[in-house]
Amino acid sequence: MKILITGASSGIGRDMAKYLSDGKNEIILVSSNKEKLEKVNKQVENSKIYVCDLNNTDEVDKLCEYMLKEKPEFVINNAGFGAFGFYDEISLEREIEMINVNVISLHKITKTCLKYMEEGYILNVSSSAGLMPGGPMLNTYYATKNYVRSYSLGLYKELKKKHKNIHISVLCPGPVNTNFNKVAIGTFSIKGLSSEYVAKYAIDKTLKNKLIIVPGLKVKMGIFFSRFLPTKLVLSILFKIQHRKRV
Ligand SMILES: NC(=O)c1ccc[n+]([C@@H]2O[C@H](COP(=O)([O-])OP(=O)(O)OC[C@H]3O[C@@H](n4cnc5c(N)ncnc54)[C@H](OP(=O)(O)O)[C@@H]3O)[C@@H](O)[C@H]2O)c1
Repeated sequence: MKILITGASSGIGRDMAKYLSDGKNEIILVSSNKEKLEKVNKQVENSKIYVCDLNNTDEVDKLCEYMLKEKPEFVINNAGFGAFGFYDEISLEREIEMINVNVISLHKITKTCLKYMEEGYILNVSSSAGLMPGGPMLNTYYATKNYVRSYSLGLYKELKKKHKNIHISVLCPGPVNTNFNKVAIGTFSIKGLSSEYVAKYAIDKTLKNKLIIVPGLKVKMGIFFSRFLPTKLVLSILFKIQHRKRV
C-alpha cells in the first residue's frame, strides 16, 4: 500500500511510519523539518520524504497536487500542535498557525483524497480534546480537534451513503509521551501512553474500519462519564486539569 503520513518527523506519526514499515508498503513522510525527516527516512524501509510547512498555503496546495500524482491509498493526517495558556497569553498569530496546521491543511488533504481515491483509508488525528465541549487553557487546540472529529464523522456517513469504499477513522488519544508538551509549553497531569503503543493501536483499528479510536481504558472511561455531567462542571474540571499543566 502507498501511505502518506503528515507529522512523520516525531511522536505518533514517526511511530506509525515505523509500525507500517514492512518493506512492501511505500511510505511518504511529511513534515516541515527536512533533517528530522531524513533521520526517520533511514529507520523506515521503502520510504521517501516530502518537506512541507502545513502552515503555508502554497506549500499545502503543492502537497495536494503531489498527492494527486502519487495517489496514496492510506492517508494519515497526523501533524498538529497545541499551546497552553489563557486567551490573552497566546498570540493570534500562533492560534492562526494552529488552525492552519490542525484544521485547514487536514481539510485540504482530506478533500484531495476524495478526488482520486476509489478505495482506501483516511485516518484523521483528533484528540480526546475533540470529544470535550471546550478546553479552557488549551482552548484553540480543543476547538481545532473538535473540528477534526466532527468533520470526519460527518464525512464517514456521506461516504457510506455514496457507497464509497473509503474508510475514515478518527483517532482521539488522551496524553501521549511525545514532543507535544515541549511545543505546547506544558506538562501532562496524568501519565501519558507511549507513542509506539498509540501508533500501533491506531493503525490496527483503522485497518479494521473502526470509526472513533480511543486508546487507553482511563481515557475511554473519562470520556464516557463526562457525558453525564453538566457542561459547566466539565469545563471546571478541564480548567483544573489544564491549569495544573502550566510550566
Ligand atoms: N501527545 C499527545 O498527548 C496527543 C494527544 C492527543 C492528540 N495528539 C495529536 O497527535 C498528533 C501528533 O502529535 P505528537 O503528540 O506526536 O506531537 P509531536 O511529537 O510534537 O509531533 C507533531 C508533528 O506535527 C508536525 N508539524 C507541526 N507543525 C507542522 C507544520 N507547520 N508543518 C508540517 N508539520 C508540522 C511536526 O513536524 P515538524 O516539526 O518536523 O514540522 C511533528 O512531526 C497531533 O495532531 C496532536 O495534536 C497528541
